[in-house]
Parts: sequence; structure tokens; C-alpha cells
Amino acid sequence: MFQNVQTAPPDSILGLNEAFRKDSNPEKINLSVGVFKDSSGVTPVLDCVKEAERRLISDEKTKSYLPIDGRPEYCRLVRELMLGADHEIVTSARGVTVQTPGGTGGLRVAADFLAKNFPGRKVWLSQPTWPNHPNIFAAAGIETAGYPYFDKAANGLAFAEMMTALENIPTGDIVLLHGCCHNPSGIDPTAEQWRAIAELVHRRELLPLVDFAYQGFGDGLCEDAVGLAALSQPGKELLVCSSFSKNFGLYNERVGALTAVATDAEAAQAVLSQLKNTIRANYSNPPTHGGAIVETVLADPKLRAQWEAELTTMRDRINGVRTLLVETMKATGVDRDFSFIADQKGMFSFSGLTPVQVDELRNKFAIYIVGSGRINVAGISESNVGKLCAAIKAVL
Ligand code: LMR
Repeated sequence: MFQNVQTAPPDSILGLNEAFRKDSNPEKINLSVGVFKDSSGVTPVLDCVKEAERRLISDEKTKSYLPIDGRPEYCRLVRELMLGADHEIVTSARGVTVQTPGGTGGLRVAADFLAKNFPGRKVWLSQPTWPNHPNIFAAAGIETAGYPYFDKAANGLAFAEMMTALENIPTGDIVLLHGCCHNPSGIDPTAEQWRAIAELVHRRELLPLVDFAYQGFGDGLCEDAVGLAALSQPGKELLVCSSFSKNFGLYNERVGALTAVATDAEAAQAVLSQLKNTIRANYSNPPTHGGAIVETVLADPKLRAQWEAELTTMRDRINGVRTLLVETMKATGVDRDFSFIADQKGMFSFSGLTPVQVDELRNKFAIYIVGSGRINVAGISESNVGKLCAAIKAVL
């Protein structure tokens, strides 16, 4: 039977990471997978996380199963972090949250829920989007389509084209929006554009599905939630997938959430029952450790303050590296204006490099970036930026 199985292609992001690990070139540079690195190239465990883990290990009394939907206190804190403790969605019980294995787990639970309860509805994805988005919906049997997002000529948001496309999406379809730090372009709508998007989406009765994987990596925890706040209107429905891989550095703990906001508390409970149904048939119930870390940090004012400070350090480093990259490109004599990199948000930049140039960077210089030209800016440091800019100059 198995001799007829076709080999699947490597994943466009994690596959590159595997290739990087196997590369024996001591000068190799990994700007592929979206993982934060400090100035010495290390992906650190945050101090607040270490302290939370110390407490958890010493207080742990059981390793029995969690509820299907995860830790109730974690779920409450996730909603508060996204919207603020006083937000009507948090206080009214029309928002329900399930703890999921990472943001990807949240997206897959959302996809299975949508496929079962709203068959035939399409999910609309920004062009471009994270390459795993189409995979996740396809795996759940949902058709996807694209709406314009990136204006290549202006290196900015194709806002007018995006709005025209959203106006024409059939009512009842689902629109996936990146809550902040758009992956892969690093280009986000302004607060005013978010208000217009929210008005359109709700007027046209489209269901917004917000992928919120980078809260705190753009401008700040509240600042990065402006889009979500605009979409969170009285009586309106939405879905939000959260991830704590990046802002807590908990990549390998797989900790995330799916929040569903219904029109009222009764509808929210029915949705919750369906989400639990989906989870039970998939991974049964979530792992405990990552969620317990996030809960411990968010619930303790001192640890929370420490986390916010550490998050600010990560964000400041990324923004500093953006400036460093632009300046070093100029100093190296790269014959192209890369100043737009300094305006983009979050971990990623769309460099404008072509697939051929990306291949050349890898084959000749052992520099790994995603085929779309996406660069993980957090992988750049004082020690490799010179080599990177010289290589980019060569391939241009
Ligand atoms: C990325 O886009 O590089 C990250 O979100 C990691 C991943 O799973 O692809």
C-alpha cells in the first residue's frame, strides 16, 4: 500500500528551517521562520516565563486531563488581554474562548467549526497571506479565495482594491484578517482604515475571522488591537485566533486560543458546545503547560509588568533592526530604495526579492528567506547585517 504514496513537498516555511539546520556553512543566516532572536542570535526564554514555570513545578498537584475547552481562567484572561477587562464582550458572556495548541490549532478548530456549521461558505484570504492559511482551510474541506491586499508598486496596502473586493464577497462568507503585523507583508491598515473595514464587513454581514498572532510586536498591546476593537461592535459576531508563540516566546509549548463572539450569551454557549465537539474529535483536550504559564503571568500584576517590559524589549529590538537594515543597505551601496522596511510592522518584511534572487541568496550565500521574498527581520543582528546587505547587493 505505502509504496504508492507520493512524497509531499516540504513546507514553504518550516521546510526551509529544516534545510537551514542541515546546512554546514558556518556563515549561514536564517531569516525564514518567524521566530524572535535577540542580538546574539538566541531565541530566549522570557524571565517572566521562567518564574511562572518555577511556581508551576513547585505547586503542581496533578497531571489529569484539562476540560475540552481548556483552563477557564486562561480563557477569561485571553479575552481580557485582547479587548480589555471592561469591554462589553468580556463582561456580557457573549464571547467564549477555547484553549488550543497554538494559533494554528485555533485556526483549525475554527475551520472545522465553520465547515460543519456553515457548509459551502468560502474563506477569503488576503493576497498574500501566511502560506499555511490555505492549507488549514483545505484540510477542513473549506474553499478559499483571495482579496487584494499588497500594493507592490507603492509597497503599501492596496486599500481601495481591498475594499472593492470585500464589497463583492457574498454575504455570509468569512473574511480572514490579520489583527496586526500582517504576515508576510508587515503592512497593516491604519486605525481609520480598520474602522472602514469593520463597517463594511458588518454591513455586508460577512463573518470576520481575525488571526491575532503578533499582539505587542507592532506598536504595543493596546495599539495592536485597534483592528479587533473596531470589529468588536455591539451585537456583531466574530472569531479570533490568538497565539502566544511570539509575544511570550512559547513557540514549542503550542499555546493559543480561539474566541467566538456571538450575538448573545445563549448563542455563544451553543457555539462553545460545537467547538468542544470539534476539539474532542481532533486532539480531545489541550496540553496544560503553555496555558498555565500564560495564565500565571497574566494573573499576577508583578509578572504581568515584567512580561510587558520584556515584550517591549523584543519590539524595540525588531524596530531597531529595521532601521539598521535600511541604513546598512544604503551604506553598502545597494542600488534600490529599501526605506519602506522601516515603516513595516512586526517580525516580517516583504523585501521585493524575486524567487530567483531568493534561490541565489540560499545557494551562493547560505542566506535563507521565504520564497515570497519575506524576511524575518528578527533574525538580523549587528554581526550578520553586513554580510546580508552585501549578498542582497550581489543578487540584485
Ligand atoms: C511563520 O510565519 O514563520 C510563523 O508563523 C511560523 C509558522 O508556523 O509558519
